[in-house]
Amino acid sequence: MKVLAISGALRKDSYNTLALRAAQKLAPAGISISIADISQIPLYDEDVRSGGDPAAVSALKAQIHAADAVLIATPEYSFSMPGVLKNTLDWLARPPEPLFNGKVVAILGASTGLVGTARAQYHLRQVLQGMSAFTVNRPEIFIREAAGKFSATGELTDEATAKLIVEQLDALQKLKARVG
Ligand SMILES: Cc1cc2nc3c(=O)[nH]c(=O)nc-3n(C[C@H](O)[C@H](O)[C@H](O)COP(=O)(O)O)c2cc1C
Repeated sequence: MKVLAISGALRKDSYNTLALRAAQKLAPAGISISIADISQIPLYDEDVRSGGDPAAVSALKAQIHAADAVLIATPEYSFSMPGVLKNTLDWLARPPEPLFNGKVVAILGASTGLVGTARAQYHLRQVLQGMSAFTVNRPEIFIREAAGKFSATGELTDEATAKLIVEQLDALQKLKARVG
């Protein structure tokens, strides 16, 4: 199963991106994960879209099209997902190709706060429902107080989180098998 991972954070030391790198290493046999770059996705503008997708959007759409599943790590900004992630999803939600229709998606998130992006993740689930994706319901992964869960070199050090990531990837693979 080819998984395309998207981090909702652009900063290089992002805990959410680090969580996706951890998922790459933890992925069970048969699952490969590549991480997309959304840093060049422009602000959504219907006038631009009607003239054709910008190159960064076309490239991301092609990556999603080629992937069997998607894994999204979202930070929590002001009790919701960051604008860069929502903006990216808005580009992907537009016609002509219903990219996320029937796509299987797992979500996780890391924050320095106490609820580990729960509020952001429920907003993200709602948006994915609007895009007709199938999301993994359990296990949920809320990486709270993230600063204490990664080493100085960016490795995930929290075993409970590592276990959940493996379980979630397994659930993603099972959901893909059911949905087809
Ligand atoms: C604009 C902004 C808003 C934030 N709002 C929240 C919030 O609502 N809840 C929370 O737990 N953390 C919040 N934080 C802190 C983030 O959890 C923290 O910056 C985290 O490291 C962001 O994810 P990243 O490491 O992947 O960049 C906010 C950070 C920023 C920059």
